[in-house]
Amino acid sequence: MNSEQLKKQVAEAALAYINDFDMIIGIGTGSTVNHLIDLLPQVKNRIEAVVSSSEESTKRLQALGFKVKELNQTGDLSLYIDGADEADAHNRLTKGGGGALTREKIIAAASQQFVCIIDESKQVDVLGKYPLPIEVLPMARSYVARQTVKLGGQPIYRDGFVTDNGNQIIDIHNLKILDPVELENKINQIPGVVTNGLFAQRKADVILVANHDGEVVKQ
Ligand code: 5RP
Repeated sequence: MNSEQLKKQVAEAALAYINDFDMIIGIGTGSTVNHLIDLLPQVKNRIEAVVSSSEESTKRLQALGFKVKELNQTGDLSLYIDGADEADAHNRLTKGGGGALTREKIIAAASQQFVCIIDESKQVDVLGKYPLPIEVLPMARSYVARQTVKLGGQPIYRDGFVTDNGNQIIDIHNLKILDPVELENKINQIPGVVTNGLFAQRKADVILVANHDGEVVKQ
């Protein structure tokens, strides 16, 4: 199976979590989630509305006729489904490859169950192989970048990219993240940081992993 087929397969498996009526569910961002969105019409009768983590997902959802609500209108959600860039064996993740990390982190925090959907290429022993994104207020970009060098990283500005919140992203390369909770906290304390892509404090409750044997394994 190629990578798109694996993404589609794991997205299909996630539909089983949409198992109640009149659900308001959180939906993430990215190519794996795009497969999920395309499959959502199969369970449309169970979905009252959706809270979306990005303008990109919102457009796709609305084009399929789903009602997209603001999190401020809904209160906490029972379910959030999203992809990840990396996942370790403890369900800690790095996210934000698509730049939607801040809204993703808010929705994950506000959801009772966070189901993460990945293919096996995203599984790692130690997080940090994939560059760790940090959303920063524009005026703080260089300052935050210098602080991440002190943490052992190599910051690269995601040139030309503006988040849905009007901010910028720096991607931190070559981090070996041995204590994800500690690093998540440390980066959050740098003035000017809006969010970092470590999902270690609020990690996934369930990870569905599509593997090359054609199976979806629950972690
Ligand atoms: C977007 C994300 C995505 O979940 C992550 O980048 C994985 O994307 P894909 O499914 O395209 O590999 O965090 O901000």
